[in-house]
Amino acid sequence: MPDETPTASDPHDADLPADAWSGVHRGPLRAGEWVRLTDQKGRRHNFELVPGKRFFSNRGHIEHDELIGREEGFTVASSAGGEYLVFRPLLSEFVVSMPRGAAVVYPKDAAQIVATADIFPGAHVVEAGVGSGALTCSLLRAVGPWGRVSSYERREEFADVARANVRQFFGGDHPAWSLTIGDLAEALPASGERVDRIILDMLAPWDCLEAAAGALRPGGIVCAYVATTTQLSRFVETVRAHGGFTEPAAWESLVRDWHVEGLAVRPGHKMIGHTAFLVTARRMAPGARPPVKKRRPAPGAYGPDYTGPRPADLPPQVLDQSFDA
Ligand SMILES: C[S@@+](CC[C@H](N)C(=O)[O-])C[C@H]1O[C@@H](n2cnc3c(N)ncnc32)[C@H](O)[C@@H]1O
Repeated sequence: MPDETPTASDPHDADLPADAWSGVHRGPLRAGEWVRLTDQKGRRHNFELVPGKRFFSNRGHIEHDELIGREEGFTVASSAGGEYLVFRPLLSEFVVSMPRGAAVVYPKDAAQIVATADIFPGAHVVEAGVGSGALTCSLLRAVGPWGRVSSYERREEFADVARANVRQFFGGDHPAWSLTIGDLAEALPASGERVDRIILDMLAPWDCLEAAAGALRPGGIVCAYVATTTQLSRFVETVRAHGGFTEPAAWESLVRDWHVEGLAVRPGHKMIGHTAFLVTARRMAPGARPPVKKRRPAPGAYGPDYTGPRPADLPPQVLDQSFDA
């Protein structure tokens, strides 16, 4: 049985209040909104609806006016017979198709960050760098208009890209967002901000740990997103050596699509092998230290070949051990 088409007069189908700042609209597609067309081969096209304009593809064209005024979730035919699925883009779709300055945090990782760094409505979150603004959109969605996201970016040209992307997604200047041009390591202490969560997505997050420690409230969370194992090691050891955080947790998430068709049920052939590692740790209260670890480090972990930061409380014999000891 076909779904009952809701009427525009149903109050439950009214558009979301603008002051929710969700970046989502309900109801008929309007001029000025972005839509996402998907063709029969799965190719995607995102564009802004402009009255009188045409969308061109390798299968002819579609008048924007044919789309404006209709409820999303329909199929439209182009002038040369191509079929296109029409929806508003989801946040996870928007961030992978928007213009990029720097590499973006992928949606699977943004979801992990929001959940494991415990980003909550009303939270005050600092992030650096802002890059293209992908993670910024997820953070703003999670804190809502009563929270605050203070983004820091040292490259003006990336900040410009992020500003345009965030404005496009939310349809205006989100009231919870501020963007500062500068290096977090200097600009955050200078701002005097006291915050609940700090997300570091940059090449050298260890350079910003001292600033993060100074700004985080006790119980607050620092979360780093790093691409390589050498960065992972250096950040984790810097957190341990700092001494004002709990034992850091490190992990990565892998997402595998499945092909499900009759008796052919198997993992998909294509999988994103690696995006980045995540590390989280909680800020201790001023002057408080985490408990001394009961377990000794693995043999050789901090032996003569190791040159990175070292936890302060290592027993001397651990420093003499090499890997083959
Ligand atoms: C990978 S991008 C961030 C991507 C962003 N999270 C997103 O989802 O679109 C890293 C950014 O960090 C910026 N950056 C690096 N170190 C920084 C620092 N110490 N303070 C502020 N920004 C920094 C770089 O200029 C770059 O734009």
